Amino acid sequence: PALSQDELKTLVGQAALDYVNEGDIVGVGTGSTVNRFIDALAGIKSRIRGAVSSSEASTARLAALGIAVFDANAVDELPVYIDGADEIDGHGHMVKGGGAALTREKIVAALACRFVCIADESKLVPVLGRFPLPVEVIPMAAHRIARQFAALGGHAALRHKDGAPLVTDNGQHILDVAGLSISDPLAFESQVNQWPGVVTVGVFAHQKASVCLLGTAQGVRTLR
Ligand code: A5P
Repeated sequence: PALSQDELKTLVGQAALDYVNEGDIVGVGTGSTVNRFIDALAGIKSRIRGAVSSSEASTARLAALGIAVFDANAVDELPVYIDGADEIDGHGHMVKGGGAALTREKIVAALACRFVCIADESKLVPVLGRFPLPVEVIPMAAHRIARQFAALGGHAALRHKDGAPLVTDNGQHILDVAGLSISDPLAFESQVNQWPGVVTVGVFAHQKASVCLLGTAQGVRTLR
């Protein structure tokens, strides 16, 4: 019988333990796939020093399982960062932020020597842009930034939660931009980063994945 999407997430969450070494402080991402990794990490918690977390949600889960959580400012470098993605291409470029944690995810990813992406195979795309691109913005700039995306052919919508604009862990808003086709992720990330009021664009090209563990019907497929 084919594995369900949940089973694929568990599979890659456990496979990511291969990239964790004795005594490590591990960079930990956010999302349902990473939750499976955190559960697996709890099984070896006596052999690691702890984690640096990318969201309040992951911090709560790590702490509940007895894994020490370090402040990002307490470390110079992390050996590895493990996180999911909303889309990944064959080069390791990703779209992230479906869980609204993209800013802290990019910060922790930048601290790490290696980014291990864990995802089920539905996330693999030839060109980024099918998943509406999350962009964290300073609220007063949202309308202008939406117009800048419109000039690129995108359609930006302010993300809502419980009837009000979603507020991120950093107190800002999220635009979700549909209709883009991101053929040059590095250039696109650099361009959007220049726009006033953009906190973080959900394209991870400068902080791309070095390895992707993709859950498939045939098991874990490793893309490098
Ligand atoms: C969180 O902000 C995102 O970047 C997640 O990494 C992404 O949404 C993947 O989440 P799932 O593992 O739940 O699909």
